[in-house]
Amino acid sequence: MSDILDLIKSRKSVRKYSDKHISDDDLKRILEAGRLAPSWMNVQSWKFILIKSQENKNLLSELALGQVHVKNADVLIVCVADKLAWEQAKITEINNPAVNPAMQGNDGILIRSLEQVIYPISYMMLEAESLGISSCIIGAMGNEITGTNEEIYKTVKEKLNLNDKQILSAIITLGYDAAPVKTNKTRKEFNDVISLEKIGNIFI
Ligand SMILES: Cc1cc2nc3c(=O)[nH]c(=O)nc-3n(C[C@H](O)[C@H](O)[C@H](O)COP(=O)(O)O)c2cc1C
Repeated sequence: MSDILDLIKSRKSVRKYSDKHISDDDLKRILEAGRLAPSWMNVQSWKFILIKSQENKNLLSELALGQVHVKNADVLIVCVADKLAWEQAKITEINNPAVNPAMQGNDGILIRSLEQVIYPISYMMLEAESLGISSCIIGAMGNEITGTNEEIYKTVKEKLNLNDKQILSAIITLGYDAAPVKTNKTRKEFNDVISLEKIGNIFI
């Protein structure tokens, strides 16, 4: 059993994978970690699609500007921000903009849906790491946010059965690291990002 901070420290984006396959039991654990993530009033405005077929990996690699690790990963998890979930959860009937994102203009639901799906993505990446499985988040691709690769995105949405309220917001590539080496994290210094009481006031 690993300490969570140790997992966070050891995790890195991996873009080259070995031929070893991830078991369905491990995939279930990773997906379960995502399913159990917290969300705004428990709206759970997300869907996850497991991709194992080479045909769909190739298509998604094309959507992701030809990124090779998308088609070479053992498995992909397509992460969908589901705007429909807010209506189904009846949050859009609440007359308070602090609770109902639909009252924050046209983009309110979109922004919140994209925000919510980040939590399960993080949980899934960490669960994968705890199982010795590497990952990379893919955000550079065609979708409603970037407006690029429109034709391929249309094909992807049809093939993966997404409706017009469901946005493919990210892809997680999963696989075993082909050449595991320890790397140092390149991050801003602690005091550049963390303050006590007000920005610029040092905590430790
Ligand atoms: C929202 C998001 C989108 C990303 N998109 C891509 C991507 O399209 N392709 C890629 O290779 N890496 C992508 N990354 C990985 C980042 O480049 C990587 O997390 C960052 O450089 C820090 O390195 P580390 O993950 O190894 O710590 C993305 C990361 C995030 C959080």
